Amino acid sequence: MPEGGYYSWKKTDDICEDVCGQEASRAALSMSRLRCILRGLDLKTYILLLVIVPTCIFGIYLQGQKITYFLRPLWESPPKAFHEIPHYYHENVSMENLCKLHGWGIRESPRRVFDAVLFSNELDILTLRWNELYPYITEFVLLESNSTFTGLPKPLVFASHRDQFKFIEPRLTYGVIGGRFRKGENPFVEEAYQRVALDQLLRIAGISDDDLLIMSDVDEIPSSHTINLLRWCDDIPPILHLRLKNYLYSFEFPLDDKSWRASVHKYQTGKTRYAHYRQTDDILVDAGWHCSFCFRHINEFIFKMKAYSHSDRVRFSHYLNPKRVQDVICKGADLFDMLPEEYTFKEIIGKLGPIPPSYSAVHLPAYLLENADKYKFLLPGNCRRESG
Ligand SMILES: *[C@@H]1O[C@H](CO)[C@@H](O)[C@H](O)[C@H]1NC(C)=O
Ligand SMILES: *[C@@H]1O[C@H](CO)[C@@H](O)[C@H](O)[C@H]1NC(C)=O
Repeated sequence: MPEGGYYSWKKTDDICEDVCGQEASRAALSMSRLRCILRGLDLKTYILLLVIVPTCIFGIYLQGQKITYFLRPLWESPPKAFHEIPHYYHENVSMENLCKLHGWGIRESPRRVFDAVLFSNELDILTLRWNELYPYITEFVLLESNSTFTGLPKPLVFASHRDQFKFIEPRLTYGVIGGRFRKGENPFVEEAYQRVALDQLLRIAGISDDDLLIMSDVDEIPSSHTINLLRWCDDIPPILHLRLKNYLYSFEFPLDDKSWRASVHKYQTGKTRYAHYRQTDDILVDAGWHCSFCFRHINEFIFKMKAYSHSDRVRFSHYLNPKRVQDVICKGADLFDMLPEEYTFKEIIGKLGPIPPSYSAVHLPAYLLENADKYKFLLPGNCRRESG
């Protein structure tokens, strides 16, 4: 009603003129002046207050996380830089020369290698991982729980798909652990509990001193030539992080090359503990792939959003809407609508917005290309996911 609105503006002014035009005592006059000023501001101010203040509060509520992430460079300095070890590789260069290029000697025979993971539900990525590493792994160790890190009951997904992994069966040590289902507990406690159980499973698998142990999440896949190098060369660091290329949703969306959590250890009985945090300064660059949220089905995305240790990032239930999830995947945008987690403004701004798609499928796990039909969703140009 614009006319009515105009009319009431007029009316307010009239009333004010009346009051201000009256003769009165000084005190009363200044009081009425004050009242006039307040009245003059009346509608405008109240409309402003009623519209702008709630908008601001709502905006901060919606975007507060973004604001704090954006300002992170002000209150948090970056962690200590890693010591980056250059990585030399070409398929036609002899192992002796490769070791020498890294400043290491070559052994008479390769070390035994154990690959140990905590499994949730990522069957496709596990298949890629095990096929990539297969030639060089002595024993694959897999532990799964009937609880997610966030304490939700979870079916034993590996157990019910074990027959898909017959090729690994002779070299598999599989363990199940019961969740503790503590309500409201920090998810990192359940995660730590499962990692301790993995230490026991490794001993059951027969690991011993000087064997190599890969500690990484299922979706952090070291390239097979990296593991071959580390098992053949002498004098490698006792603990070595692996720098992996980060991808989101598929190999179509390369994010950066900063993934560092995966590590390889020369096992020491009583000393080596399975962990997924920073354990040393040494890191070998370009050592594989980290494909986060690389799922075939939309409902796997939704499960992971609820199940993983950062599930508090699901701030609104519409984040879990399947149509929204599909749109976000095809755009290369963020499922949790968050800003990049970086320590400098330059890096935050450089990464704002969706990830530009890549059209390269060079230097990806061989099994992926050999079975491209089956794993099409991981290759460029195939962002539509299967429902269900
Ligand atoms: C690698 O070695 C093979 C066999 O020795 C040879 O045929 C091939 O041309 C070499 N490739 C490159 C890129 O040097
Ligand atoms: C989880 O596993 C443990 C041990 O196998 C069992 O006692 C418990 O009932 C299971 N809980 C659920 C919810 O399946």
